[in-house]
Amino acid sequence: MSDGPTIRPRRLRSTPAMRRLVAETRLHAAELVLPMFVREGVSEPVPITSMPGVMNHSLDSLRRAVTEAAEAGIGGVMLFGIPSHKDAIGSGATDDDGILNVATRAVIEEVGTSLVVQTDLCLDEFTDHGHCGVLDARGRVDNDASLERYRDMAIAQASAGSHLLGLSGMMDGQVAAVRDVLDRNGFTDTAILGYAAKYASAFYGPFREAVQSSLEGDRRSYQLDPGNRREGLREVMLDVEEGADVVMVKPAMSYLDVLADAAAVSPVPVWAYQVSGEYSMIEAAAANGWIDRRRAIEESVVGIKRAGADAVLTYWATELAGWLRRP
Ligand code: PBG
Repeated sequence: MSDGPTIRPRRLRSTPAMRRLVAETRLHAAELVLPMFVREGVSEPVPITSMPGVMNHSLDSLRRAVTEAAEAGIGGVMLFGIPSHKDAIGSGATDDDGILNVATRAVIEEVGTSLVVQTDLCLDEFTDHGHCGVLDARGRVDNDASLERYRDMAIAQASAGSHLLGLSGMMDGQVAAVRDVLDRNGFTDTAILGYAAKYASAFYGPFREAVQSSLEGDRRSYQLDPGNRREGLREVMLDVEEGADVVMVKPAMSYLDVLADAAAVSPVPVWAYQVSGEYSMIEAAAANGWIDRRRAIEESVVGIKRAGADAVLTYWATELAGWLRRP
């Protein structure tokens, strides 16, 4: 008789086959979404310095990358446009010939419905002041005037064929406003992803380079305070009530508790966005030889899924899908 423990959890960790059999969380390519940047007026892709491996695409390179993403079997792409001219109201966002709307049509021409083609519905890529909405006379972000711009943007994006509109601006009532205008114009099948719990995060830093944002100041008057957990859940519930088809928690890694809360109560899918700074941190550490790149990437996405995400937006989506096919 042994005097050792009778309960030995290590039995289930003893062989690769046993570990595979008892794994609680598995990744699938279908639940990965690739965020992509497309820049107006460039004929070649432009690398983003702070996001090694990520490009500001030209229309041609976007077409190639999206085809590759579809072949890898991922679930969808989220498109961000970078216009060559920005102004106070973000005119490029509502122009049918604006870069995001042109790119959406190009992507759909390329991949049809084999991917869920999603578009960022927010003004910050298009405004010269870099805010997610329009400003009032005193320079503050004007909630209701911004909703009017979002309504127009929604029609432009739905007309371009976007399957799912990603409402990332954090204006009050944005989901209800966009649902209303879509329904009134016959776009009842166009879905809405509400960036419900979007925090004012330092981890968006590299994204600001990616979209050439000229933002001075910060977004704390509309994005959530990083310390607020209950308020994140409130935003999730509001977006669901207003008609969001999917809700999002963003960033991912520092907000896994909020994600778990949302997953526990949401009647609609909950997604998480592994944002630019999360990407860059792992790439930078791996480039220095400080962590194992592939293991760190896989672990970071598994962790997000384990916390409750039904799908994950990640800049590694295509590469990760390739690894899932060839473990
Ligand atoms: C707003 C938007 C941002 C991101 C996605 N949508 C920037 C912001 O709110 O400052 C950041 C994504 C990332 O960092 O990867 N259009």
